[in-house]
Amino acid sequence: MRKNIIAANWKMNLSKDEALNLIKEIISGYNFDTNTDVIVSPPYVYLDQIFQVCKSSKNFYVSAQDCSFNDNGAFTGEISTKILKSCGSDFVIIGHSERRINFKEDDEILKLKIQKLLADGLRPIFCCGETFNDRNEDLHFKTIMQQISSVLFSLDANDFSKVVIAYEPVWAIGTGKTATKEQAQNMHAFIRKIIAQHFGDNVADKISILYGGSCKPSNAHEIFSQKDIDGGLIGGASLKSDSFLELINIINEVSRS
Ligand code: PGA
Repeated sequence: MRKNIIAANWKMNLSKDEALNLIKEIISGYNFDTNTDVIVSPPYVYLDQIFQVCKSSKNFYVSAQDCSFNDNGAFTGEISTKILKSCGSDFVIIGHSERRINFKEDDEILKLKIQKLLADGLRPIFCCGETFNDRNEDLHFKTIMQQISSVLFSLDANDFSKVVIAYEPVWAIGTGKTATKEQAQNMHAFIRKIIAQHFGDNVADKISILYGGSCKPSNAHEIFSQKDIDGGLIGGASLKSDSFLELINIINEVSRS
């Protein structure tokens, strides 16, 4: 059985008080009889406090939005995986398109980050996604193949099984445009297929693949009900407890039916 996951990417939003109120509202509205994992990625500086609120709630995990690939030392402004771990982080988002595009992170950097965080006992939420041009030119499968194979296929199967994949078409992030259920399902099935070819069916069947990109309560039902979609990585709609809780309820509902 694959894990359903709803992950919040709060990005560079929310004051400390707003972030603490939001996580408390989410926990108090969460139905603990269900089994969906909730991963919350606050700005670094509140990570420990958010962890303190989450730590006794079953199914709740904290994630960082990025990490350094260096171990420790003279890297002003950087945050190491050991620091993140000591503040309660279980996951780190790696390869978000905002970091690939705005901070010029390439596959080599992402590979170093993933190796480092796995070595320090964290789990990556690895983002991949094609641009609008890639899709227009029918290069979307090729792009995703390249992003996944160059960063993840050098891992051994044991390390790879700790990865959560988030497929996030760049043209859908924060734009209000969402992939259709067919576009999303086709890509998720493709991702699972290339994983099966490389690591075997057993590994591919167990890996959670999330959809991200303007996912909200009004479109989540049709997206989450696709058979290779195991939840979502949510930006805008994770900043309010009612929409985020609704997304959790939707994944629970579709996985029951
Ligand atoms: P969005 O962001 O839901 O606001 O499109 C998703 C993401 O960037 O992870």
